[in-house]
Amino acid sequence: MAEQTRISAYDNGPFLVTGPVVIEDAGGNEYPTEKETIALCRCGASTKKPFCDGAHSRVGFRAARRVIQEKG
Ligand code: FES
Repeated sequence: MAEQTRISAYDNGPFLVTGPVVIEDAGGNEYPTEKETIALCRCGASTKKPFCDGAHSRVGFRAARRVIQEKG
């Protein structure tokens, strides 16, 4: 079975990405990522974007806690 990349939301914090991934900026330049799991900022306050630097705690970021199911 092929290795899957998993993206999971940390409560009121970053997206945690585990598995093979390539991250590029808008110009197509790659960010070096050597860790098995990386944390991507989703609060907008990090000074190390696209990575989380812990600022979400300082700014009181609150995210939707769970997947919102579509009605249908
Ligand atoms: S989610 Fe951690 S600094 Fe933005």
